[in-house]
Amino acid sequence: MVDTQSAFVAFERVQKSYDGEVLVVKDLNLSMPKGEFLTMLGPSGSGKTTCLMMLAGFETATHGDILLDGVSINNIPPHKRGIGMVFQNYALFPHMSVAENLSFPLEVRKIGKSEREEKVMRALGMVQMQDFAGRRPAQLSGGQQQRIALARALVFEPELVLMDEPLGALDKQLRETLQFEITNLAHELGITTVYVTHDQTEALTMSDRVAVFDDGRIQQLAPPDQLYEQPENSFVAQFIGENNTLEGVVTKIKGDTCEVKLDSGDIIDAVPVNVSEVGERTRVSIRPERVEFNRERLHADAHTLKAEVLEFIYMGDIFRTRLRVAGTDEFVIKTRNAPDQKRLKPGEMIEIGWMAEDCRALDA
Ligand SMILES: Nc1ncnc2c1ncn2[C@@H]1O[C@H](COP(=O)(O)OP(=O)(O)OP(=O)(O)O)[C@@H](O)[C@H]1O
Ligand SMILES: [Mg+2]
Repeated sequence: MVDTQSAFVAFERVQKSYDGEVLVVKDLNLSMPKGEFLTMLGPSGSGKTTCLMMLAGFETATHGDILLDGVSINNIPPHKRGIGMVFQNYALFPHMSVAENLSFPLEVRKIGKSEREEKVMRALGMVQMQDFAGRRPAQLSGGQQQRIALARALVFEPELVLMDEPLGALDKQLRETLQFEITNLAHELGITTVYVTHDQTEALTMSDRVAVFDDGRIQQLAPPDQLYEQPENSFVAQFIGENNTLEGVVTKIKGDTCEVKLDSGDIIDAVPVNVSEVGERTRVSIRPERVEFNRERLHADAHTLKAEVLEFIYMGDIFRTRLRVAGTDEFVIKTRNAPDQKRLKPGEMIEIGWMAEDCRALDA
């Protein structure tokens, strides 16, 4: 169960329906300590924005409770919530200058003029936009507007910041710069952040923990490395990172390892994650970089599969090779571009294998 006593943000069995029939959030339990950077990641329509809106108090939960520092959000008036927000369409006030945009949330909070000016300049400094105080939003580039939106969300030193795809509209390079700036700022200022994105790289690189959403539920909530290396179900394995999937039936379970007979007839080694009995169908998941084709690097008794090289792609830092394995043409392996690394050639026959612990037998 979630420990909602010590949590700064807590969702307790939250459900949400807009029409009184369909639940778009089904059973949400989440508990965040102060200062955490948590990302909600998931496909379109999985309920991420809805959760953010409920946390901001713009939507009410149909069932359950949302607590901020132990107090139900319903009982905290909007101006006392102390929540900074950045949305995808940054919505700066077009008729106000940059400085006026930033000053606005401070005026609402009845902060005096000299203090306002000081805070505005400091917030602009945080996003390196001091020289743009006098401009109107229309006179700024998209990335600059995004920085101002960020500064505006931080200017009143909120304890909690909610961001809904704040970098959605930006090019890759600017995105990466701002990803770095946002996490740095959040950690420096000790801000608790709930960040929404459907970009998994962004989620993995920025967050302390990631909540993977699907179908109105959190499918897994874990730190990035755990999410990537130990997905708890097939959805998460597929959604996070590149993944190879093979299907078959469990034929042996022995402690931490199991044997799976693939539909192609081949036998492989795996960790039983979501399977408990011999005879159960399973989908096994193996990451491209954990596949080995150098027999010497495998356990002597490891099972191996015959594979035909279909395509070799040189990507600079890594080589990405597509194989035909156990009835699929979509099996991918990745190897580091090291001086002694073999460059496989289409048509070549190889033997692949892995450490049993790198291959996870999940739900079928
Ligand atoms: N105001 C609304 N009235 C009715 N249904 C809504 C409303 N807002 C969202 N929904 C529905 O609720 C579900 C969840 O929507 P939500 O906006 O939370 O998804 P999301 O995870 O943020 O998706 P995206 O990645 O596309 O932004 C969707 O099926 C959506 O159609
Ligand atoms: Mg959304």
